[in-house]
Amino acid sequence: MNKTQAYNTKHRERYLDELMEFLRIPSVSADPNHAEDMMKAARFVSSQLQQAGADRVEIMATEGHPIVYGERMLSPDLPTVLVYGHYDVQPPDPLDLWHSAPFEPVVKPTEKHPQGAIFARGSSDDKGQVFMHIKAFEAMNKTGELPCNVKFMIEGEEEVGSAHLGPFAAAHKDLLQCDVIVVSDTGIIDNQTPVITVGLRGLSYVEIELTGPNRDLHSGLYGGAVANPINILSEMIAGLVDENRKVTIPGFYNDVLTVSDEERAEMNKAPFELKAYLEDLEIDAPCGETGYTTLERTTIRPSLDANGIWGGYTGKGAKTVLPSKAFAKISMRLVPNQNSEKIAKLFKEYFESIAPDCVKANVTYLHGGEPYVMPIDSEGYQAGYKAMKKTFGKAPIPMRSGGSIPIIPLFEEVLGVKSILLGFGLDSDLIHSPNEHFGLFNFYKGIETIPWFFRYYSELMG
Ligand code: BES
Ligand code: MN
Ligand code: MN
Repeated sequence: MNKTQAYNTKHRERYLDELMEFLRIPSVSADPNHAEDMMKAARFVSSQLQQAGADRVEIMATEGHPIVYGERMLSPDLPTVLVYGHYDVQPPDPLDLWHSAPFEPVVKPTEKHPQGAIFARGSSDDKGQVFMHIKAFEAMNKTGELPCNVKFMIEGEEEVGSAHLGPFAAAHKDLLQCDVIVVSDTGIIDNQTPVITVGLRGLSYVEIELTGPNRDLHSGLYGGAVANPINILSEMIAGLVDENRKVTIPGFYNDVLTVSDEERAEMNKAPFELKAYLEDLEIDAPCGETGYTTLERTTIRPSLDANGIWGGYTGKGAKTVLPSKAFAKISMRLVPNQNSEKIAKLFKEYFESIAPDCVKANVTYLHGGEPYVMPIDSEGYQAGYKAMKKTFGKAPIPMRSGGSIPIIPLFEEVLGVKSILLGFGLDSDLIHSPNEHFGLFNFYKGIETIPWFFRYYSELMG
């Protein structure tokens, strides 16, 4: 392992330069105008894997953006680790809130990152973290210290729901056969407090179209006599949670697994300071389901949020109009054992049923995914635990996260393999927001930790 770490130290600067090159490719999966850039990013990943020493690399087409597959197979007798990550990024908008251009990475110190952080879209989610794996793989390979077989599957559609990855995995079960999947697409509490993510929430995402009159009307001639879909939609959305901030959709909580008091007490021991949390967000009070702590509200409890609402006139100045239509996008974060399609169905039935006669409601399901939990007695978890303990000098804390990576539970279903979520980002990295960044400490700590994971995992499986 000494050789690997010495190699890392020697090539530190180059690692960063190459990551910058990766970050300059605007691989925005949601925007069809960036289709060429998606291909460019896939080619970048594949050539990196090749240079790092993979003995088979392939850019595999899907109905959507391509998947980059790479492998280095040492022996069928050794365990196989599959690395999953995504090279696509969220749209950078709103652009005017960025202090530097989203696809022109710069390194600047911040309060949390006195040694500097790389500012660019995708730096933390997930190109920077994918790149840690490529470089750790390179270092192990070039020094002859790779202890087991490795496969890479880096996709380009995570940020838009991974629609083609499930079918891809099902069609390539043999190719993807492995003993564990390792994913760095989550985070730690802070740079002194490592975490292994042991749970993800599921997601059910719907869009609402509410129609009133058949055309936009003069709000003076018709106002007060005809349904205004914006007014009605606001009432309907407001009614989706009650005064205790519980979701009012009948059956919504039916499948929610109750977490024991013991486990709740344990999870609330995780370092979390409500005061600092509120200060960071510049809010005076939290807001959520009665009877649960902030940590619980974002991990073991489901939630419902409007992500966008629009309709009518939103331009400059005033225009008197009673709009024909109003729209909203709603996300529901789910916990074990809720099911995304079932919840979407409950939502649609309920929402369409409560629409008053003066409007028509239409709900469409956009995408979703299931929740996930990782058992801490697995070899994958144990190897991650030992690796982080080694490099941080402190035992990692098992914590559930409120975010979603829908493909993780799908891998379990299709491939029968659990994933270990070994992420190195911080909640303050501003992923999906303007000024996303990734600490240099975190980048290099990831590259240092991953080879230990490989080593310990191979030992535990040996
Ligand atoms: N990497 C994130 C998810 C994440 C971030 C989980 C931090 C835990 C901690 C991922 O790229 C993401 O943004 N997922 C989406 C879901 C997807 C279907 C668009 C999400 O959670 O909104
Ligand atoms: Mn991600
Ligand atoms: Mn993301």
